[in-house]
Amino acid sequence: MKELELKIQIHECQFADLTDEERQLLNEAIEATERSYAKYSQFHVGASVVLQNGVHVMGCNQENAAFPAGICAERSAIFAAGAQYPDQPVRMLAIAARNTKGELTEEPVSPCGTCRQVMIETETRFRQPVRILLYGRRRIFVMDGIRQLMPLSFTEF
Ligand code: THU
Repeated sequence: MKELELKIQIHECQFADLTDEERQLLNEAIEATERSYAKYSQFHVGASVVLQNGVHVMGCNQENAAFPAGICAERSAIFAAGAQYPDQPVRMLAIAARNTKGELTEEPVSPCGTCRQVMIETETRFRQPVRILLYGRRRIFVMDGIRQLMPLSFTEF
């Protein structure tokens, strides 16, 4: 049997290494954590996307007493952008989170599998990769496309 090794590439950096636009997007994701409705988990996640036309759209997790009815920050931002600007590709997505003590997380928070699947669809739909920025106080992860986080993803049938 042949063994395949899949390689993903993640850039680790600090705030100062980023462009003004990237820093702004991360600051919006941090700001969005303050708007999150996380009554049940107390884990406040924020996201912000920038579209091809330059518009920024923020999102945050929205929880519900019926747990599966809630939605993550990433999908909230992507779906809000899709609803308002259906023809605009998503160029970049930033994510930040506050822990149950209200502190921004030390390490970058990585999107859940369902959000990754939605990001894959966004890339497929607009035929361009979405640059991903994951904020942590200690370090920031940057990826040139969601396929770096989800190799062998399901796309079309
Ligand atoms: N959450 C997000 O908003 N994004 C993620 O990528 C991971 C998890 C939310 C869902 C839920 O409201 C809370 O964080 C705890 O899981």
